[in-house]
Amino acid sequence: MITRLTLVNFKAFRRLELPLGPLTLLTGLNSSGKSSVLQALALLRQSFGPDRSTAHADGSFLLNGDLIEMGTARDVLHDDFGPADDLLTSDAPAVGFVVEADESSQFIARYDLEQPDEDVMEADLHVFVPRWLHLPFQYLHADRITPAVTYPRSRQIAIDRGFLGARGEHTVNYLRHNAEQEVPEGPLRHSGATSPQLLDQTVAWMQELCPGVNLQADAIEGTDFVRLSYGFGGTAGINATRRRRPTNVGFGLTYALPIVVACLTATPESLILLENPEAHLHPKGQSRMAALLSAAAATGAQLIVETHSDHVLNGVRIAVKQAVLQPEDTVVHYFQGNGAGTEVVTPRIDKDGMLQQWPEGFFDEWENSLDQLLD
Ligand SMILES: Nc1ncnc2c1ncn2[C@@H]1O[C@H](COP(=O)(O)OP(=O)(O)OP(=O)(O)O)[C@@H](O)[C@H]1O
Ligand SMILES: [Mg+2]
Repeated sequence: MITRLTLVNFKAFRRLELPLGPLTLLTGLNSSGKSSVLQALALLRQSFGPDRSTAHADGSFLLNGDLIEMGTARDVLHDDFGPADDLLTSDAPAVGFVVEADESSQFIARYDLEQPDEDVMEADLHVFVPRWLHLPFQYLHADRITPAVTYPRSRQIAIDRGFLGARGEHTVNYLRHNAEQEVPEGPLRHSGATSPQLLDQTVAWMQELCPGVNLQADAIEGTDFVRLSYGFGGTAGINATRRRRPTNVGFGLTYALPIVVACLTATPESLILLENPEAHLHPKGQSRMAALLSAAAATGAQLIVETHSDHVLNGVRIAVKQAVLQPEDTVVHYFQGNGAGTEVVTPRIDKDGMLQQWPEGFFDEWENSLDQLLD
């Protein structure tokens, strides 16, 4: 597990040190740097992980790839960059990361003043490639697949690599191929499912969002596409057996599907980076997503989750109160913008699910609005 991440001269941060836990929530204002934290880990995985072609694994930061498109070195280097402190002795501009896991590893990329618009940055790698870079990994952007009639069918990405796609675009193919894979006994396994198999477990968790829904993932023979269809058994009267295409069943289910599959397939060593798992879900659904995230972390996976949802936060607090997670398994960071930069406050959750600190602006809008209503 990664216990601490330090970013130096990276995007919004001159320097940021962030403790991480089995389940870390990144909360706070828009444009305060939450996604940048996930992007730093995705960038390292893209640059030094097992999926970078060995022909190009030459010790450089690969700014644009299939996990993330960051633009150029100029975009990535913090505007007000300074010396890389303990990371680099010279004053030359550089972007650096320190990742503390079983061992600590440093990644430093020099900013080449002659080539600021290149999308690779030469790295000073004084390190072996650490183990966490090779463990099972998922990264799902806020901008995920929207409901569609077909989805891609890539053996290499979905099946050989087991990657759902940064937009979740390979989820349907993954689900089709691994429908019978078992969700291990434990907190992730849904007791209301018809079997421990992945497809049935996925259906059970999706029913938490929409009771009565079921889903099917099929190959479209003779093409490079797969199809997802929904049924609404028991609630659709005479049309109970009729399949519906994703474009006709609303937005939330399809948007949540990659999150559900990423969590259900978490292994004790997975690293799962998620942006806005609450997107397009009704409040209770958001709370149930938090239960699923907590269950995935309780199996031993590490999840780092950006969220704007107080229902997600409260769902995690409830998971602690119910002892699905220990208080020390959760880390909540609140990114506070102060006009001149970002300050991070870290309220702790105690064993009763209560927050030890409630900074101003931290999910207090409900009370603010109530004050105005009752005034
Ligand atoms: N090279 C750079 N130098 C300084 N600041 C930068 C640089 N690149 C991006 N930023 C700043 O980083 C911030 C973007 O952060 P990020 O995308 O992580 O936001 P976020 O907290 O995830 O927002 P949201 O909640 O809307 O998703 C912006 O304030 C932007 O101005
Ligand atoms: Mg973001």
